[in-house]
Amino acid sequence: MFAKRKKMDSTRLPAHIGIIMDGNGRWAKKRALPRSAGHSAGSKNFKQIARYCNQIGLQYLTVYAFSTENWKRPQKEVESIMNLLRDYLKDAKNFKDENIKVRFIGDLKALPEDIQTLIQEAEDGSKDATGLRLNIALNYGGRDEIVHAVRKIAQEYKDGSLLKINEQTISDRIYTFDQPDPDLIIRPSGEYRLSNFLLWQSAYSEFWFSNVLWPDFKPSDLDRAIADYQKRDRRYGDIQ
Ligand code: IPE
Ligand code: IPE
Ligand code: MG
Repeated sequence: MFAKRKKMDSTRLPAHIGIIMDGNGRWAKKRALPRSAGHSAGSKNFKQIARYCNQIGLQYLTVYAFSTENWKRPQKEVESIMNLLRDYLKDAKNFKDENIKVRFIGDLKALPEDIQTLIQEAEDGSKDATGLRLNIALNYGGRDEIVHAVRKIAQEYKDGSLLKINEQTISDRIYTFDQPDPDLIIRPSGEYRLSNFLLWQSAYSEFWFSNVLWPDFKPSDLDRAIADYQKRDRRYGDIQ
């Protein structure tokens, strides 16, 4: 007999979940489709999962959409991802209808200008939303984020406006400066690494891995991840 799996308790949700949306390419390959079809399916699934997170009352969700390293991919693939992003952003009025407040994190200045404008419009358009706070990590790298913070600190120190440097000094200058660190980081697709995602913020995050490829990742998989998280004992270096 298998012990019955405990259901997730929606009254004790993690405050912040991070998801590395990986496995689009393999999903497409399995179906003999081009990689762009995998990204399209992944993008569709992202909308479904974000909506579900909002429905269950999650406060913060950060999704990894494009890393600082993903520019290495063939230009055609990068273009297909940027086009999906354009479609998503043009549909941005949905954020408002759904009460989701969106923020893009990463080195956005390196993105095509029309995308930067659409990002600005999406953020402005959803700024009064009171539901899920959704961070979309785009041209994001954890190391790059820390470098940006360190540059700011060096400048402020030189100006004399900053006298002491401690952990909080860095936490205050990263993209998620006003948000709690992720409690739970989920990576589907069978890879067991962070790939430069939320390096500073994940110091005490719980990790949950699954072999499911991102386009197949369902709300029930998220429930399972949350239920497992709820059984974890977070000690933060203390005892018991
Ligand atoms: C994740 O899926 C999407 C991005 C990195 C943009 P992948 O494209 O990495 O899919 P796999 O890992 O090749 O299957
Ligand atoms: C991480 O996936 C980045 C995103 C999901 C956006 P990758 O597919 O780029 O990671 P690696 O190359 O397998 O480490
Ligand atoms: Mg991948």
